[in-house]
Amino acid sequence: MTSRVFSRVGIVGAGQLGRMLGQAAIPLGVRCLFLDRSADVPGAHVAPVLVGDLEDAKLLKQLASQCDVLTFDWENISAAALAPLEKLTAIRPSRAALEASQDRLLEKALFSRLKIPVAAHAAVDDRSDLIAAIERVGLPGVLKTRRFGYDGKGQFVVRKSADIDAALAHVGAGKLIYEKFLSFSSEVSIIGARGATGECAFYPLSRNHHAGGILRYGLAPHRDRTLERQARLYMRRVMRDLRYVGVLTIEFFVMGGRLIANEMAPRVHNSGHWTIDGCVTSQFENHLRAICGMPLGSTLALGHTAMINFLGTMPDRERLLAIDGLAFHDYGKTARPGRKLGHCTIVKSRVKDRNRALENALNLIHWT
Ligand SMILES: Nc1ncnc2c1ncn2[C@@H]1O[C@H](COP(=O)(O)OP(=O)(O)OP(=O)(O)O)[C@@H](O)[C@H]1O
Ligand SMILES: [Mg+2]
Repeated sequence: MTSRVFSRVGIVGAGQLGRMLGQAAIPLGVRCLFLDRSADVPGAHVAPVLVGDLEDAKLLKQLASQCDVLTFDWENISAAALAPLEKLTAIRPSRAALEASQDRLLEKALFSRLKIPVAAHAAVDDRSDLIAAIERVGLPGVLKTRRFGYDGKGQFVVRKSADIDAALAHVGAGKLIYEKFLSFSSEVSIIGARGATGECAFYPLSRNHHAGGILRYGLAPHRDRTLERQARLYMRRVMRDLRYVGVLTIEFFVMGGRLIANEMAPRVHNSGHWTIDGCVTSQFENHLRAICGMPLGSTLALGHTAMINFLGTMPDRERLLAIDGLAFHDYGKTARPGRKLGHCTIVKSRVKDRNRALENALNLIHWT
């Protein structure tokens, strides 16, 4: 089966993910156009930006009419805003794939239907639901907003019944989910790409270290045959079910040597930034290849990598650059506490050397 090959990509959102997509597009000869709320966004460094609301019907129409395929740096655009565009252009990943990953409850329902394990959970719309959910799921648990959460925002760990009011006050009113707090041994993610003809490519697992709900650093490849096989199997199920086109990420908790799905992202992902410097083909290039109908590139790792996020404050660039095998990425954003401003990736041929360089780099990076 063959499909059309595209070379004009519209990207909703022009943050750092959009910017790195735009960077990967240049050598492919693919042209990008962004839509974002401001002209002063990371993507603006690499491609033009239409400025306005991300759900502005007129601007979305303009974006769609100037591109062969529409894709996303930000996956929360509503299905209603996307529906009228489907007649104008290809949308990859599809509206259905976006909808499934916008709501933690729908996402868990999808995983469960596909026999992918998830944490025990319950929907919560008010205080009495929360009391019932705690009764059913147990303590401790995490109360989360069902939509629009990122970097651990909109979450509260409920350790005892007396925390209920503080949890509701913190997370706010609206549709919520209460899930069992899992004492996992580690967190890993898998990133894969699926082309329009069904061809798939999977990256090695990344082992992710979070603190305060935000990814701090990741180590890849995380070689564990059992987990890798399981993760690929689960990802294939999701991709096939959604007839997915593009890069997809699934984050997992590891408990007793088995995977429990946490969430998925219908896009390139922070835990895959290591693939820019650490793989033959980056997640960004493979996303473009997939959505444009080009053959997928090799996901082979070039060595042992560590990817470290710059959060809140940019580190001393020159001191980091003095570390052998380190690649530096500055997103060009204004500093703000907790904000992802950039990252660096260390690539080494031996684990021991990677770990030593990681330690040196961590000494120079301060998360604020
Ligand atoms: N049920 C849970 N049990 C234990 N820890 C959890 C649970 N849910 C979330 N966490 C911790 O909080 C982190 C962020 O949670 P989650 O991935 O649900 O949020 P997010 O805000 O969508 O994050 P992201 O930045 O990945 O979009 C997880 O990576 C994990 O470290
Ligand atoms: Mg997450």
